[in-house]
Amino acid sequence: MCGIVGYVGHRDAVPILIEGLRRLEYRGYDSAGLVVVQDGRLEVRRRAGKIRQLMDLLEAEPASGFIGMGHTRWATHGAPADHNAHPHRDCTGRIAVIHNGIVENFLELRQALQAEGHRFTSETDTEVIAHLIEAHLRAGADLETAARRAFQALQGAHAIVVLSADHPDRLIAVRIGNAGGVVIGLGEGEMFIASDIPAILEHTRRMLFLESRQMAVVRRDNVRVWTLEGEPVHLPVQTIPWDPVAAAKGPYRHFMHKEIHEQPRAVTDTLRGRVDFERGRVTLEEVPLSPEAARRISRIVIVACGTSYYAGLVGKFYFESLARIPTEVDYGSEFRYRDPVLDADTVVLAISQSGETVDTLAAMERAREGSARLWSIVNVIGSQAHRMADACILMHAGPEIGVASSKAFTASIVDELLLALRLAELRGTLSPEEIRTHVRELARLPDLLGRVLDREAEVVEVARAFYRYEDFLYLGRGLLYPIALEGALKLKELSYIHAEGYPAGEMKHGPIALIDERMPTVALALQDPVTYEKMLSQMEQVRARRGQVIALITDGDRAASARADAVLSVPHAPRWLQPAVAVVPLQLLAYHIAVLRGCDVDQPRNLAKSVTVE
Ligand code: F6R
Repeated sequence: MCGIVGYVGHRDAVPILIEGLRRLEYRGYDSAGLVVVQDGRLEVRRRAGKIRQLMDLLEAEPASGFIGMGHTRWATHGAPADHNAHPHRDCTGRIAVIHNGIVENFLELRQALQAEGHRFTSETDTEVIAHLIEAHLRAGADLETAARRAFQALQGAHAIVVLSADHPDRLIAVRIGNAGGVVIGLGEGEMFIASDIPAILEHTRRMLFLESRQMAVVRRDNVRVWTLEGEPVHLPVQTIPWDPVAAAKGPYRHFMHKEIHEQPRAVTDTLRGRVDFERGRVTLEEVPLSPEAARRISRIVIVACGTSYYAGLVGKFYFESLARIPTEVDYGSEFRYRDPVLDADTVVLAISQSGETVDTLAAMERAREGSARLWSIVNVIGSQAHRMADACILMHAGPEIGVASSKAFTASIVDELLLALRLAELRGTLSPEEIRTHVRELARLPDLLGRVLDREAEVVEVARAFYRYEDFLYLGRGLLYPIALEGALKLKELSYIHAEGYPAGEMKHGPIALIDERMPTVALALQDPVTYEKMLSQMEQVRARRGQVIALITDGDRAASARADAVLSVPHAPRWLQPAVAVVPLQLLAYHIAVLRGCDVDQPRNLAKSVTVE
């Protein structure tokens, strides 16, 4: 979950590393640090806190060099203090290491090294890596061999970069397991390393992605890759289509605000090339299937975490209702520790914005072992969940930098709907005419989302009226129940307000006891033939207990607004598109409440964008 960045070339590394770290700060922001080789020595600058603190330190104590690496930390071992910030060095101070992951056997390694006389200056697990390399160098190994032996001794999953003052022409990078990606950017006479594409996208779009147990020696004019066992590897160069401007904040105060507003474009991009609007068909060539193969699918199991899990709950409705395939949704972190029943007719569908969430990846591995078909819906090109799957639908949402997910959520819902429609066509569960109707409706979604965003002022009013409350209940039914969960999650992670999402019908089985004038209820009451009337009566039940109701309603719905203390309205939307439409005002509500409470919207406390630890 930490961010790593490296540079070797003809320019001063420090501004490049700082900019890279700024772009990676969403991965962890407990501390930040960097190291460069200057006058034959390692110059380390590191500080607890955010990149700003590191920049202040660099102003007071400047450093520069043509090679260097930087790190932004999400603390695991050792508190977020200066001395625990990366980079970490060995006893000689000539080897520096930055690291993302957890050295599971660090205690045992540390004790053995201490017994040999190594002195440690931090409580981190990372420091053992620098000392291990030092020990192998002392024993006579060259730098690459020493690093390889050290890496081989580590248990757990890791992304590591090593810099030695005695070899100021190279960085050594390794990826072991799923602790996060290692991306190598290829420039002209300069090379870049990062844990994520946006950190280096402004310099190059040509990238290599290390697989697990591969290590690279990166010099300014070449990159060589081996397996950890020493076999040479040829990695294909991938060209990233993302626009570097998309990874910048532009006129918005926060990335998240920008990303919420990008949803019409994200949906357009995810539809592009996958839907034949003229003929009213979904093509989705990424998932090649014959009608027989589609008919053989007996079950879909969606695995995901957090917001992506909620997107999966929406997908369950699509796959079951449209394609008539029984569908389960499971947390990656639970699935991996169960003994799931899998077979070749089961599709395991992983949903992950980052494509690097360790629990989701472990669930995918579990699916592979169980010989299920493995598909994924992923935003980050080249990520592990992209590469691992037999078929991957890319979200095309563009880089999502705000730690709390927004546009990736809507894009994944749309991808699930596309997949369900494609399966429905192949399995013959919907007629061509029905599919044409769905496709016509889908074509309207970007416009609908744009119209919801135009009403932001209405959301700001509601945020102003309610931002001081400390508890919220979100209620939804059917397709809008996952949106109630997602709305509550957005509020808690952005504003640290306690919020619970609940299926509205379950309220009377417990949560109703919580309701009083201090706990507002956000009721998702869009008009539909299935759950609307029930939601109206649930709103009555809340008000009867002196609870205040913020109702999400369809334009002009007097019956619902008469039962509410405050209203957020959206244009009428076809039933299957309601989740995508309904989530937008809830994202905006959480955003504006967080801003009014003075919270750090893009980097909420304790969170990180890619969760690469268990
Ligand atoms: C919440 C949020 C997280 C992620 C979760 C999974 O706003 O973003 O709950 O959805 O950590 O991440 P991915 O989708 O990258 O696997």
